[in-house]
Amino acid sequence: MRPRCCSDVASFAVLVLLLCGAPPEGLSNVIPKDECGTRPLVDEITTGTRIVGGHDAQVGAWPWQVSLQVYRFGLGYNHICGGSLINHNTVLTAAHCIRRWMDPQFWRAVIGMHHLFKHHSHTIKSRVRTIILHAEFNRMTFQKDIALFKLLSSIKFNTFIQPICLPDGPLLMTTEIPCYITGWGNTKEKGSPRAILQEAQVNIISQDKCNSLDWYAGAIYEDMLCAGFEGGGVDSCQGDSGGPLMCYFPDKTKYYLIGVTSFGLGCGKPKFPGIYIRTATYRSWINSQTILHDKTTTVSIPCVLIFLSVGWATLLIVL
Ligand code: ARG
Repeated sequence: MRPRCCSDVASFAVLVLLLCGAPPEGLSNVIPKDECGTRPLVDEITTGTRIVGGHDAQVGAWPWQVSLQVYRFGLGYNHICGGSLINHNTVLTAAHCIRRWMDPQFWRAVIGMHHLFKHHSHTIKSRVRTIILHAEFNRMTFQKDIALFKLLSSIKFNTFIQPICLPDGPLLMTTEIPCYITGWGNTKEKGSPRAILQEAQVNIISQDKCNSLDWYAGAIYEDMLCAGFEGGGVDSCQGDSGGPLMCYFPDKTKYYLIGVTSFGLGCGKPKFPGIYIRTATYRSWINSQTILHDKTTTVSIPCVLIFLSVGWATLLIVL
């Protein structure tokens, strides 16, 4: 256990680095606040409709949806997981997707895609610069199942490619707020993945209900969220992991990324809805990791000096 004083000094050091690393306008650039969560090709008023139990999405309907793919000899690139574009060069996904492929060189991110095997002229493929796994991801309980992929290219937004908004904190959910899941995953528990992006509307299910004895019986931690239907039938499934659980907020006229697809017992089973990692819980982790790993971040010399002095002070206190 580290003495509390040191962890305080260490957090201060990180804060200094963060504040120094990104000028004020840079900070708001990191995770966009305004330019996010809109679907230029979909009319929300007419479609404001209300995977397993889903249907084909329209081309360009979910412009932040990413396919994360791994290269295998003789097979080419294979879709492994979904992800969500959160700024020009960052994709948010699930930590369990990375499995043995820790080296970013195995991966590519495909953005602006509808059909897994037929890319459009607006489809962009980018190699990956860094993979940032949450250091406390627990493979047994699936707590902190969250990761970031920093891309080598900076992605230009257009009508087919847009970032999704991230909540600053928990958002007020009402039954009026429609939530959706999307992905190229299996459409049946023992089925095969879908070539065309699937979408489905789901309900957010309360933590208490989801943790009740005949449901997940306490396996759902605070950083997780249940979504689906009590009777099953509509759910995410294998291959959808890392992808978005998103809700449309009519007052903000934007989509927010509420969850990251994480796990479920089977797919579409009654009382075993899909489990998603709550993005609101990880907002500060996402912010700090996005800034820390940005090559474009410029650190000024006075800031480096302050950072080093704080580092030395930490060392002196420890010794
Ligand atoms: N773990 C799965 C994946 O890697 C996603 C499972 C979601 N399951 C569910 N029943 N909702 O793709």
